[in-house]
Amino acid sequence: MTDLSQPGLPGALPDKRQVAASFSRAAASYDSVAALQRAVGLNLLERLPGGMTASSWLDLGSGTGYFSRALAERYPLSSGIALDLAEGMLQHARALGGARQHVAGDAERLPLRDGCVDLVFSSLAVQWCSQFSSVLSEAARVLRPGGVLAFSSLCVGTLEELRASWQAVDGGVHVNRFRLFEDYQRLTAASDLEVLALQRQAHVLHYAQVRDLTHELKALGAHNLNPGRPTGLTGRARMHGLLQAYEHYREPQGLPATYQVVYGVLRKPDPSGH
Ligand SMILES: C[S@@+](CC[C@H](N)C(=O)[O-])C[C@H]1O[C@@H](n2cnc3c(N)ncnc32)[C@H](O)[C@@H]1O
Repeated sequence: MTDLSQPGLPGALPDKRQVAASFSRAAASYDSVAALQRAVGLNLLERLPGGMTASSWLDLGSGTGYFSRALAERYPLSSGIALDLAEGMLQHARALGGARQHVAGDAERLPLRDGCVDLVFSSLAVQWCSQFSSVLSEAARVLRPGGVLAFSSLCVGTLEELRASWQAVDGGVHVNRFRLFEDYQRLTAASDLEVLALQRQAHVLHYAQVRDLTHELKALGAHNLNPGRPTGLTGRARMHGLLQAYEHYREPQGLPATYQVVYGVLRKPDPSGH
């Protein structure tokens, strides 16, 4: 079982303050490099139950607020909350509009009252949460009966080419850890929400050079922050080793970087049957 929760252990996720600081620093560059994040969020919007209306919604891990603005357009009379751990992201989002409220908070401990929203939408944020079971129970708590949680996340297999290439060079942890897809299956099935759909889909991006990928991860704020990551300068010989190892994956379109994306749509049961 991976709930990725023990700080300092190899399976652990980074400290939340580091995650917040990294995304705050990335707020200005994020939108220019977020092509995959756009595509995934749009796919998630398409997966919302047909005919669904939402008078209130929560964009969980809202980042620069791109999908808060999409939700405000989709549900014109609604009132939305954009919530993020990173103050820098919230400042950026506030200036661009979309949500009525911008709230600093943690998906694992929402500073919101019970039953206050019809929809929790969360794209590519909860892979940063060590306790996905807490995210699910908090979403269930803040949803009204009959309300929907739609999330996308990343699972094991993401950035596998980069991980394996570093592994061949020095055996170190250079890529963020991800939960197994089976853990998403198990944790959603054990939640208080009804699973309407849960799927995994691979998205493959291509880069001319490894550096293009690593620079992009940094501009997104999503570079490796794991405990146990190597610190200090990346030596020239090790970098050369990495480039050589990654070349084994080269395809006609360039160097592939695979993202294994999880899409989930869940509903809070409504005892009144509506
Ligand atoms: C890759 S960005 C995605 C942003 C946006 N949803 C999008 O699709 O463009 C991930 C966001 O999740 C936020 N985040 C990470 N951990 C979080 C947590 N525990 N609670 C709330 N937000 C979190 C980060 O600060 C960052 O803004």
